[in-house]
Amino acid sequence: MSYDIEKAVAAFRALAEEQQARAEAIKLQGAAKDYTKLDKIVIGVCGGDGIGPVITKESANVLKYILKDDVDSGRIVFKDIEGLTIENRVAQMKAIPDDVLEELKSCDVILKGPTTTPQAGDGRPNIESANVAMRKALDLFANVRPVKIPEQGIDWTFFRENTEGAYAVGSKGVNVSDDLAMDFVVTTTEGTERIARLAYEFARNNKKDRVSIINKANVIKTTDGKFLSLCKKVGEEYPEITTDEWYIDITTAKLIDEKRRRDFKVFILPNLYGDIITDEAAEMQGGVGTAGSANIGKKYAMFEAIHGSAPRMVQEGRDKYADPCSMLRAAAMLLSHIGKYEESVRLEKALDYCMFEDKKMKITGREDGCTCADFAAYVMETLTTKFGAEN
Ligand code: IPM
Ligand code: MG
Repeated sequence: MSYDIEKAVAAFRALAEEQQARAEAIKLQGAAKDYTKLDKIVIGVCGGDGIGPVITKESANVLKYILKDDVDSGRIVFKDIEGLTIENRVAQMKAIPDDVLEELKSCDVILKGPTTTPQAGDGRPNIESANVAMRKALDLFANVRPVKIPEQGIDWTFFRENTEGAYAVGSKGVNVSDDLAMDFVVTTTEGTERIARLAYEFARNNKKDRVSIINKANVIKTTDGKFLSLCKKVGEEYPEITTDEWYIDITTAKLIDEKRRRDFKVFILPNLYGDIITDEAAEMQGGVGTAGSANIGKKYAMFEAIHGSAPRMVQEGRDKYADPCSMLRAAAMLLSHIGKYEESVRLEKALDYCMFEDKKMKITGREDGCTCADFAAYVMETLTTKFGAEN
């Protein structure tokens, strides 16, 4: 068997240098952007792949509707961003083509449809997921995913670390030999402290009295160990909040333990555990089509559905029946992020009403249900008739 340890060591050295530089760069970042103080806010709208363009367009229409006065006055500008498609990414062999990245950087916040992720062995070139690349390129370090089931007393907010852990160098693993492959997990001090602080600040501001730190520090000792101890240290600054710590395996079990699960409130999770657990939680709420996701950085923020691009729906000609609810939830999070709190609450209420209460229009993903455009129109109508600004 042939192997070249020196080559593997050189590859590791390059990764260590790259990640050290990233860790240093985080320290130099200034304060987070205050959107309420901006004269103009640019909202980028990026359709993505599969059902993405349909659900993104309809969600952007709802946003334009709710923000009409600001759009008319020019304070809020919507900007369509083309080119974040799997075809274009493969043609340019880039997770995010340069011109698209430049466009993204000209926005303050982005509403993004799901993008298709090439997977090892699917015949597509090994380009990084556009999602993961965007989170890194715009340094969107926090992935915030709320899940609520009011009738069961469930009100969870997940703070998933979004740029590090198993994802930081996820497409740069090393094949040492034909028989040995290695991937790497990355934890930095600043990267961990900033996600922990965001989660504890959220807990404090929203009167949540418990924060749970999820980890597997009993096995993944170095990186998860560092993550856990740094989060706990940040937690000491919030004496009114109880901090507890859970291993990821038992967390997956406790989320389906009806007696215990309502005790959870705010979670802090390393990237991969956050990815897994938030799908589990969203499924309990009614499916991954029902939950939105905010990717927050100091300078930019991106809002997206938590589900994928569903290429099969497009192949079968069913994309116009796609469910926009996850994107609409993301749109509500976008509103609150740019300081439009009242509008955000109105949209959340209208969605709760349309999805769980009135249920006049049903989305099934097929002809027997309503179209995505019909559902968006129903939400807009509900906004006006039931949750108008004057109500
Ligand atoms: C998510 C998705 C992404 C992730 C994929 C599409 C790369 O599952 O946003 O949770 O793993 O983060
Ligand atoms: Mg996921």
